Amino acid sequence: MVKSAILLVGGMGTRMQPLTFDTPKPMLPLVGKPITEHQIMKAKAAGITEIVLATSYLSDVFTPYFGRGEKFGIKISYAVEESALGTGGAIANAAKLLTGSGPVMIFNGDVLSNHSLERQIAAHEENGADVTLYLTEVEDARAFGVVELDGARIASFNEKMENPPTNIINAGCYIFNRDIIDQIPEGVVVSVERETFPVLLARGAKVYGFVDNSYWLDIGNPGALLKATRDLIESAGHEMAQGKGSSIDPTAVVDQGSFVGAGAIVGAGAKLHQSIIGDGAIIGANVDLTRVFVASETEVGENTVREGDFLGFSSH
Ligand code: GTP
Repeated sequence: MVKSAILLVGGMGTRMQPLTFDTPKPMLPLVGKPITEHQIMKAKAAGITEIVLATSYLSDVFTPYFGRGEKFGIKISYAVEESALGTGGAIANAAKLLTGSGPVMIFNGDVLSNHSLERQIAAHEENGADVTLYLTEVEDARAFGVVELDGARIASFNEKMENPPTNIINAGCYIFNRDIIDQIPEGVVVSVERETFPVLLARGAKVYGFVDNSYWLDIGNPGALLKATRDLIESAGHEMAQGKGSSIDPTAVVDQGSFVGAGAIVGAGAKLHQSIIGDGAIIGANVDLTRVFVASETEVGENTVREGDFLGFSSH
């Protein structure tokens, strides 16, 4: 049984700027809820009962929202890195807060997937694995960690390269046995992708892959966040979605998986295509936005036309 999880949510999210100047990437709203909340609910549905959020960059943003997890029906605690420890260092640091000593599910904080955690857990147990990586196949693997398999076992791990040997990639969700986590050096920067996996393979540890080709998206940059939002809305059979208390003029056109935040107002004749409007924003009459992010509480004056832009975000 896997009951414990660690969410890696401490990265700086540089590719997601300017959205991440004030908000850590995992706290960015995806159809009105932080990406992290989607992951927590997925973990809970698979039987996870305690989660440690491994935070660093803008760590203060997480606690008021998630508290101790009461509202989400799961125990949540926080391992704060004063300076970022890298993904491996973060896992070692966060594991100290877990009460259970069984295997641990580890999530990259920026992945949206429909893969079966239950089947990944079952594969881990059936294989008697030390580590089980969720893998998925992509067309262009150059931007990802790529594995070669020997049966279900991982034969090699290659982080981001020009000529990847396969198109099977590390999809950012692992199960680690506790003794493997306990071998990661503490208090120093360690990358699980660049250091821990290659070391485990070199040592002959039982590192298995679990290939699942259902929906997977790495929400690494603003374009991916627009796509994730659109995919979630369209998969529910809608053209758009809106938060509580928002109002959209009947003559406005809001489509292509746009999301209008809570309390936002969209004026007459406005057109919003694949755009994300923050809570409390005001979109004036005849505004025309395509693939645009509007920050919370921002007013967009009437007749404004923009494509592929960010309105109202600080730029420090
Ligand atoms: P970029 O700066 O755009 O590359 O984004 P990132 O900082 O989020 O890095 P990346 O996408 O490679 O990180 C994958 C996941 O690990 C994300 O969910 C990050 O929040 C998390 N992460 C990366 N580095 C650290 C770290 O040093 N500590 C913790 N706690 N989490 C990290």
